[in-house]
Amino acid sequence: MTPDERRSALEAIAKEVAVCTRCRLAQARTRAVPGEGNPETEVMFVGEGPGFNEDRQGRPFVGQAGHLLEKLLLTLGWTRDQVFIANVVKCRPPENRDPEPDEIAACAPFLTRQLEALDPAVVVTLGRYSMARFNPGAKISQVHGTYRPGTPESGAPDSLVYFLYHPAAATRDPAIEAASYRDIAGVPAALLEARARRANRDTAAGGMVVPAERTEDANIAPQRATTEPTERPAVALPATSDVATSSVAADGESVPTDQLGLF
Ligand code: URA
Repeated sequence: MTPDERRSALEAIAKEVAVCTRCRLAQARTRAVPGEGNPETEVMFVGEGPGFNEDRQGRPFVGQAGHLLEKLLLTLGWTRDQVFIANVVKCRPPENRDPEPDEIAACAPFLTRQLEALDPAVVVTLGRYSMARFNPGAKISQVHGTYRPGTPESGAPDSLVYFLYHPAAATRDPAIEAASYRDIAGVPAALLEARARRANRDTAAGGMVVPAERTEDANIAPQRATTEPTERPAVALPATSDVATSSVAADGESVPTDQLGLF
């Protein structure tokens, strides 16, 4: 997909979401929240569903949880306009209740199409509903701070999926907040690994050999590295010692990165 095609696909999805009536959440919403961000990003964040502020503004993560998400991103030197942020359900569940399975199912094709259009190298899930789409049956308390390859069913077969606690949970619990800061520090390492996996895949398919990047000199901006023009600024690299927390073994299980000799 070219950048223009990607942008058009995302805009088309957003237009459909804005007028969607596929489930009961449409009745109580003020505005649908399709998601937003940089169409050329390599990193997509997926939350649960809009809350009060998001419902008013039609934008994801603009309340207290969003404020914390922005602070977490800043620890990597990233800003929200460098990534793409969306949700599992695009309309606010009344009183911020959990989304129902049929609501998640009704909204799922929108997220699938967003994943297909963005083709992110890394998907970062925020909370258990988002985690469940990519890692059904897992427990967030066990998998937070780890990542694994996306499956075809998840809609992100070419991605590494990185699990974080939901920022709203972090705003309520200092232990979860501390874990979230530790966990997000591992995302750049996942991005490097995802790039290397994609480069190897392209090589196997007869493409150019692209050496794996090292954290000391890599541009860890969450920016698609293509021959196509992009307008994204480079961002600073987090300290190597802060970066890696886990990685993915051949069987798809997450293991601590320091066992892999990656850096
Ligand atoms: N919580 C979410 O899961 N998504 C938002 O957009 C805001 C809060």
